[in-house]
Amino acid sequence: MSAYPLVDHRPDVVVVGAGGAGLRATLGLAEAGLDTACITKVFPTRSHTVAAQGGISAALGNMGDDDWRYHFYDTVKGSDWLGDQDAIAYMCQEAPAAVIELEHYGLPFSRTEDGRIYQRPFGGMTTHYGKGIAQRTCAAADRTGHAMLHTLYQQSLKHRARFFIEYFAIDLIMDGGACRGVLALDMASGTLHRFLAQATILATGGYGRAYFSCTSAHTCTGDGGGMVLRAGLPLADMEFVQFHPTGIYGVGCLITEGVRGEGGILRNSAGERFMERYAPNARDLASRDVVSRAMTLEIREGRGVGPQRDHLHLHLEHLGADVIAKRLPGIAETAMIFANVDVTRAPIPVQPTVHYNMGGIPCNVQGEALTRADGRETTVPGLMAIGEAACVSVHGANRLGSNSLLDLVVFGRAAAAHCAKSLRRGAALPEPPPRAVEPLLDRFDRIRHADGDRPTASLRDEMQRAMQRDAAVFRTGETLTEGCAALARCHDAFRDLRITDRSLVYNTDLAEALELDNLLGQSLATIHSARNRTESRGAHAREDFPERDDAHWLKHTLAWVDAAGAVRFDYRPVQLDTQGAGVECIPPQVRAY
Ligand code: FUM
Repeated sequence: MSAYPLVDHRPDVVVVGAGGAGLRATLGLAEAGLDTACITKVFPTRSHTVAAQGGISAALGNMGDDDWRYHFYDTVKGSDWLGDQDAIAYMCQEAPAAVIELEHYGLPFSRTEDGRIYQRPFGGMTTHYGKGIAQRTCAAADRTGHAMLHTLYQQSLKHRARFFIEYFAIDLIMDGGACRGVLALDMASGTLHRFLAQATILATGGYGRAYFSCTSAHTCTGDGGGMVLRAGLPLADMEFVQFHPTGIYGVGCLITEGVRGEGGILRNSAGERFMERYAPNARDLASRDVVSRAMTLEIREGRGVGPQRDHLHLHLEHLGADVIAKRLPGIAETAMIFANVDVTRAPIPVQPTVHYNMGGIPCNVQGEALTRADGRETTVPGLMAIGEAACVSVHGANRLGSNSLLDLVVFGRAAAAHCAKSLRRGAALPEPPPRAVEPLLDRFDRIRHADGDRPTASLRDEMQRAMQRDAAVFRTGETLTEGCAALARCHDAFRDLRITDRSLVYNTDLAEALELDNLLGQSLATIHSARNRTESRGAHAREDFPERDDAHWLKHTLAWVDAAGAVRFDYRPVQLDTQGAGVECIPPQVRAY
């Protein structure tokens, strides 16, 4: 331990991550007068929320009839009944206020002719319980996440939150089952820091980089989930990985669902609008799991486009240059840069691409992390989670587009409010014993000095290809069993890791190895949970178990991964009771879109 002098910080709360959820929590905490440290491995406005394009859902009714109860219905149905209905009711009811609050903070939303927030249709968003198409997704052109980050970062600075930028969170400091804070590396100076706090809020985003092709930034390595697994705590519903229908072919960059919301159409090699066959009512605006499966089937059955017939075309030429310039300027630029396509003249080549993790750190509506032992559920004192890192669960087995930005701000705000109520500014903190920190330093040192034969990049590539191949849009027991074996080999090979740079200052070799360790734990949890769940639900499509099986599987998976890479399971019930939220629960029923 003496080899690594530690710099100590004692804020009231430490937030790990500065995307939409982390910033919204940071802002709320600072506003409430709590000393708040936000640590982030990238500059806040470069967090992955910047890539969110299409918008944030809220039943404002600015562009037609709407009601938060319709939003609730769509989200429950979209989740394929795995979402917790009390949490969904809370999120949908809070949505309009959360969006108006963002507007008042200065988020530059696009406007209607009469000056109200512009709202576009998005997949699975309906009115009157599935009868009409809702215009519910509030947009700042196709750069909504970008606008959100700038707004929340500025507001957080105004309230004097303290930011620790380019700090990499290494591990949770746990003592007697409680979280006392986090150990982090300041990548610029190479110094190690202990952030000891009354509450540690993980807002570290998803782990899309477990896959070879994803819309996620290189930074999306699920560092919070990795730390939670190493702390001996479970992750929930990891088998549910969302594929976005329209990633640019071969590159993965997101082409927003907002394109289809504005009238864009998917076509196969025969020029057919094939979604009419799979979802006659919602067509291209069916939920993402439905569209991704339909695209995969079109490709499998030989109706894909291109020399290898392995992708499809997204047309928006018919929208006209004016609509594209006003509503989808970012997409036009992205398609030109990454696919060399002028979208006013030609279709974009697209394929389903990993986009979002419905699973994550199990927690309640206030953001308190949960665990389970001896058949009993408890909160983990001092530990909270929000945003994509968390599993509240409002998205269940499949998230509806534009519910993610909403989740970030609603639960970021709820977590801050919970801390404001339950913590006391400047309260004394117990000193964690050396045994809580020494193993963390040992692990860090071991990875830093790893001198095996496998460079991080080659191991990461092996893991990503196995996940892409074996935990894809469609899965079978056979592919998943092969995937479990492939991931076990990757996990074992981590012991043979080679780090070539031994320094501590901006050591990207080391940072990527730490990220890989986080990804490996979550990949194991994902592929084992997927093999374990013998039904099809939402984004988890088992060809060998094609039906949803509520009798056996209307429950959340909890998965623990131990140091040897072994995975064990327990379960949580799905909350079907809306707990007096002013809306009836929606009982499980056959899916139809
Ligand atoms: O398609 C999109 O704009 C993505 C939005 C989302 O994932 O919520």
